[in-house]
Amino acid sequence: MLHANRKKFPVGPSEGLKRWSLGPLNDNPLEYFTRIAREFGDIAGLRILNFKTIFINHPDLIEEVLVTNARKYSKGRVLRANRHVFGEGLLTSEGDFWLRQRRLAQPAFHRERIASYAATMVDYAQGLVSGWRDGEERDAHREMMRLTLQIVGKTLFDADVERDAQGVGKSLELLLEIGANFRRTIFVPHWLPTPANLRVKREVAQIEKILYRIIAERRASGRDAGDLLSMLLAARDDDGSKMTDKQLRDETITLFLAGHETTASTLSWTWWLLAQNPAVEKKLHAELDTVLGDRAPALDDLPNLVYTGHVITESLRLYPAAWGLARLVVEDHEIAGYPVTKGMGVAMAQWVVHRDPRWYDAPEEFRPERWENDLMKRLPRFAYFPFGGGARQCIGNAFALMEAALILATIAQKFRLRLVPNHPVVPLASITLRPRHGVRVTLEARRKESRQRNEAERFFAGEQSAVAD
Ligand code: HEM
Repeated sequence: MLHANRKKFPVGPSEGLKRWSLGPLNDNPLEYFTRIAREFGDIAGLRILNFKTIFINHPDLIEEVLVTNARKYSKGRVLRANRHVFGEGLLTSEGDFWLRQRRLAQPAFHRERIASYAATMVDYAQGLVSGWRDGEERDAHREMMRLTLQIVGKTLFDADVERDAQGVGKSLELLLEIGANFRRTIFVPHWLPTPANLRVKREVAQIEKILYRIIAERRASGRDAGDLLSMLLAARDDDGSKMTDKQLRDETITLFLAGHETTASTLSWTWWLLAQNPAVEKKLHAELDTVLGDRAPALDDLPNLVYTGHVITESLRLYPAAWGLARLVVEDHEIAGYPVTKGMGVAMAQWVVHRDPRWYDAPEEFRPERWENDLMKRLPRFAYFPFGGGARQCIGNAFALMEAALILATIAQKFRLRLVPNHPVVPLASITLRPRHGVRVTLEARRKESRQRNEAERFFAGEQSAVAD
């Protein structure tokens, strides 16, 4: 049942769309999208400055855009405006070129292939916590960013980015920060020599230097590491030509960007949510202690770490790293009976749909239990879509879910992350949704606590046997 308020949707070439101010889109896009949904229902056609945009908030309509009529759309303005960063990589390219690249990259994300990445993910997570000390204060977001960057570098490009991690990490962060400004991204052409644009250029050049080095080293060695980079290097076009360094650069920068910040933010939000929900945290610890004890998690443990999986699912519901998606209409057609014409934008926000009380009880609450008893199967397909859908669905979906669960398990086995009082944790909705000022935490070793428990148990057991003697 759609809740469009038809009177408020005056589409049609002669009538034009309802005017709506750009207002808080830049400062608080989450609030902006929420307000539009509240005011107009499942579909709204608005004219924001000169942009005609259809906002849709119903899973069935989202399915129409992403799946049924996907060919009538291209990627939206923000991604297009960032083409000078992503180039013709998987995220931004279109048509036959995109399809060819997607087919080339797909094998690196097949189930069996990503299964072989599990041990690397756990190793790096263990490496990270081996440097953590009880009582220390850290920024959980920064730690997760470093970790996921290393993992993407190692698994997809067999490159140890530790030595480059600081440089790449800082440059990527700056790019994302600059991308956070919609007004600038959409209205200021990237070639204008503004201070922000010059900075983006500098940071992109910095990352490119590292990527070109990784590509050149691999080309020179001729080594087949069996990873994504080897697959891309070995690929031949129909006419036998290889991918150019520029194409390789576009794919690698895309995967570094799309593949590390999203999972890192998901984990940062998860730590923040866990710290505020002690009952959930306790249940998570109980599962980890039962299934793993003191042993490191492995791929085969994931089917038994059911609650751990629900924690990630729920965290991605409330804080979806990709909080909204956009498309541009390339062929005139209708959505829910309303005519849409070439050049119009279409926007849909996971942030809004994932918090819609029609699909979720107490939608603002963090309740991993809600996913028990197959809620996913009972929901409309696009009531939960953290990875998008249709042909352009996230290629890293299974990679990310496995990585998030293994990292969460490895760290939560050893540490509890306590929030540092008065540190503001607020979402910054840029291309991704991340904590604006990070998540400052105090580390609390769990082993200390389980050792104390064991000692207490031994003491009482000894006392009892002494009594029995
Ligand atoms: C929790 C983590 C992640 C989330 C929430 C996420 C979300 C998304 C979403 C929503 C899309 C679709 C964008 C659209 O339709 O416009 C997407 C696309 C993509 N993602 Fe992810 N992603 C995550 C992790 C990853 C990882 C780990 C990788 C790679 C290692 C990755 C690589 C990509 C690529 C290459 C695309 C473009 C796919 C295409 O158009 O063919 N993502 N992601």
